[in-house]
Amino acid sequence: MLELKNVDVIFARGTPDENHALKNINLKINKGDFITVIGSNGAGKSTLLNVIAGTYSVENGSISFAVSGKNKGKTPLLKRFFGAKNKEEGVVDVTRESEFKRARRIGRIFQNPLLGTAGNMSLEDNLIICEKKGMRALKFSLNTRKRALLREKIKQLGLGLEGRLRDNVGMFSGGQRQALTLLMTVLSNPEILLLDEHTAALDPINAELVMNLTREFARSQNLTVLMITHNMKHALETGNRLLMMDSGEIILDIDGEEKQNLTLADLQARFQAAKHRELETDEMLLV
Ligand SMILES: Nc1ncnc2c1ncn2[C@@H]1O[C@H](COP(=O)(O)OP(=O)(O)OP(=O)(O)O)[C@@H](O)[C@H]1O
Ligand SMILES: [Mg+2]
Repeated sequence: MLELKNVDVIFARGTPDENHALKNINLKINKGDFITVIGSNGAGKSTLLNVIAGTYSVENGSISFAVSGKNKGKTPLLKRFFGAKNKEEGVVDVTRESEFKRARRIGRIFQNPLLGTAGNMSLEDNLIICEKKGMRALKFSLNTRKRALLREKIKQLGLGLEGRLRDNVGMFSGGQRQALTLLMTVLSNPEILLLDEHTAALDPINAELVMNLTREFARSQNLTVLMITHNMKHALETGNRLLMMDSGEIILDIDGEEKQNLTLADLQARFQAAKHRELETDEMLLV
């Protein structure tokens, strides 16, 4: 459903600080994939998500979304939009599309729990905004039925917030806010969900809670997810596919049974092996 072909990202090109942050990335993401992304600091993980979201533009290569018939009919606006581009194949090249335009297909959650929700607005108003982003209910107003529906959704989070619809979100804890961000993002009905260490700033209990909700939403809504984490346990226990990045490259892409049976020791060994190969190449260059 999303394809990156030969994608390069180079920061500060032509200066002494030139940094080849993504090197010839080729990646096909299938609908319903839950991909965990690991790799050391500076490996290019966030850059990968940023380039998908359109925050950074590519130096070379292309990014395209494949749109199924079902997605095409999601909203008349999207249908018109896709239809106008490439009707037969249902493929939309978004390489030059702005971040703003791409945002309607993409849900993003960052590390900072304060970013995804507006602290000075009530829980209710935050949820109204996210419905608008989904473009499904532009004339959304809270009648009794909708309020009951929202209360039900919030109850499903298991945080006891269903009685606090009128409270300002600024009063909630980091874990509660990140769980709400997750709910709001899912409600906005994205084609792909990009998570950049979204549990890293939470204490272990809240991190587990948000991880469990993430898995649960992904399963029940059949979401396509790309999740960066430094938590190896989360990377191993979550999703159907795992990417390891190093120095701007994807050095490992494992899925299916191999992913299910993967252990921490395997991961360490694969990482060492990849590093070793790189060293050998460098050594060869020095000879
Ligand atoms: N906006 C930018 N301008 C210049 N260089 C950048 C920018 N964003 C990232 N970089 C550089 O690109 C490289 C990859 O960074 P990136 O943030 O993708 O790493 P990461 O894998 O997400 O690391 P971390 O685990 O620390 O978050 C790094 O060398 C970083 O310094
Ligand atoms: Mg990062």
